[in-house]
Amino acid sequence: MNPVNHVAIIMDGNGRWGIRHKKSRNAGHKAGLKSVEDIIKISIDYNIKFLTLFAFSTENWKRPKKEINYLFKLLESYLITKISEFHKQNIKLKIIGKKKFSKKLNLLLNSAEKKTSKNSKIQINLALNYGSKFELVNAVKKIVKNNYKINEKNIEKYLYTKNLPDPDILIRTGNTKRLSNFLLWQLAYTEIFFEKKLWPDFNREDYSKIINRFKKIKRNYGNV
Ligand code: FPP
Repeated sequence: MNPVNHVAIIMDGNGRWGIRHKKSRNAGHKAGLKSVEDIIKISIDYNIKFLTLFAFSTENWKRPKKEINYLFKLLESYLITKISEFHKQNIKLKIIGKKKFSKKLNLLLNSAEKKTSKNSKIQINLALNYGSKFELVNAVKKIVKNNYKINEKNIEKYLYTKNLPDPDILIRTGNTKRLSNFLLWQLAYTEIFFEKKLWPDFNREDYSKIINRFKKIKRNYGNV
């Protein structure tokens, strides 16, 4: 049985969920946050050590301002109300992506990371303003600047995911089969599960089914 150490998730389908429920796209994001909380709890139950969640991509800035503002306000109030609880539960929060937000959000993110930095139950990597191509170009630039050798080890050293194991499982909800510039390097040998359900509807049963299917897969890594 394969151990599950690191799960990455593209949480797609919030907007459609909001519209389908005759509400707004933003109502879908609010419902999506509830799924985030549930999935963190279930990941802890499964003793998963790293959970990487794609919350906002470098391309998501193209969305209407109203939606972007709503998402960041949602995150702000979530951090303000929940970070102490996270800390009590021994959860470590790390942001992956370019931290270039409002002064208030930057401060909140930095203090949440600092407060939880020694925690060890599970590490939540929240991908915010994250783009894999940017991450890779940036890594190569740093290697060249320092005159280091361009090799896998050095590239990995300059990724946001430095020192993290690669994801074992990638889940994308929302019935869309693409990677959307997420962890392109790190997913080289990850098992990928595309889920029809929209993110706010994704529940414990769906997650457990994927984990159990993953556990039985023969992982070859290019071998036979
Ligand atoms: C993709 O669904 C989802 C996002 C771009 C945002 C993810 C945000 C959450 C899960 C909400 C809570 C998390 C934080 C960190 C505030 P989509 O809007 O692209 O859905 P669609 O494909 O139906 O349009």
